[in-house]
Amino acid sequence: MQRLLTGLQPSGVLHIGNYLGALKPFSEMYSQYESFLMVADYHALTSLRDPEALRANIRDIVRSYVAAGVDPKKAVIFQQSRVQEHTELAWIFECLVTVPFLELSHAYKDKVAKGLEANAGLFNYPMLMAADILLYDTDVVPVGADQRQHLEYAREAAAKFNNSYGDVLKEPQAKILESVAVVPGTDGKKMSKSYGNTIPLYEPKDVLVKAVMSIVTDSSGELPQNVYEIHKHFKSKKELDALYESNKGKYKVLKEALIDDIEKIVAPMREIYESITDADVERILKEGSDRAREYAAAKMKAVRSSIGVTI
Ligand code: ADP
Ligand code: TRP
Repeated sequence: MQRLLTGLQPSGVLHIGNYLGALKPFSEMYSQYESFLMVADYHALTSLRDPEALRANIRDIVRSYVAAGVDPKKAVIFQQSRVQEHTELAWIFECLVTVPFLELSHAYKDKVAKGLEANAGLFNYPMLMAADILLYDTDVVPVGADQRQHLEYAREAAAKFNNSYGDVLKEPQAKILESVAVVPGTDGKKMSKSYGNTIPLYEPKDVLVKAVMSIVTDSSGELPQNVYEIHKHFKSKKELDALYESNKGKYKVLKEALIDDIEKIVAPMREIYESITDADVERILKEGSDRAREYAAAKMKAVRSSIGVTI
């Protein structure tokens, strides 16, 4: 069986874009692989400095994946910071790559271009992600198209290491989830927590209602484009066109229909989500991280021996 690993940063509350773009595809494919699902909490530290929020977001990710159908007995669900080998291997990669090489990172360049101060963690982000992947002899890494460059960094890190020290690390394949279109947010731009335009995934229904009602509608046309573009992820085109045709100009009715259609999918999952206690989350993360550590420790043993720190 091939090994699959993916990760999600606990940097905010998950939204329906995350569900359609990451949780759903993962829950549909993970059982065909030996799967590892990592909560990338040390990556989130590059942008989040609020301990309470971080704690809540970590739990949110675990609950969200389980509610979306991922069985913690079939996938190793673990927390990055509990497996110290990740930061250890990242350091070794940082000593192998050059500053100009890391300066090519889109995430880093974007921050600098916006005039923001990039912390050194953000600069080194791709090397921590390379460690995440390479510690587990990962074959496939399912990610969105925006992560393509990070995968290239991981492959480069493996190649550079193997060139210097011999064949220890396996170069992974990206599995870009292209089929999933970008879900727009309430303002028509890509739905993203950093734009404050999200429709939350498992928040109580009144929060969902409020978010949908806030979708910006442009009064010039008869079709509320922003509502329609989100709606099309929840209904077939035929049904959707009939609905919008028979309710021309009735924005409120159409928004209510969208709420119903999101609710149909989300309500059963929300019930599972709410039934998962903090103790359940702790048990899942402890068991998963213990298992992950076994693999990571074995790989680090080989890495340490090959670089010459074991005497
Ligand atoms: P955000 O943009 O809210 O910060 P992340 O970058 O943390 O989201 O994305 C986590 C996962 O969710 C990634 O796999 C990403 O491809 C997916 N994703 C995020 N936003 C969307 C969206 N609007 N449409 C589809 N997939 C998305
Ligand atoms: N950088 C990824 C993102 O922002 C999250 C991530 C961290 C990841 N480590 C990973 C994804 C390892 C896949 C594999 O979405």
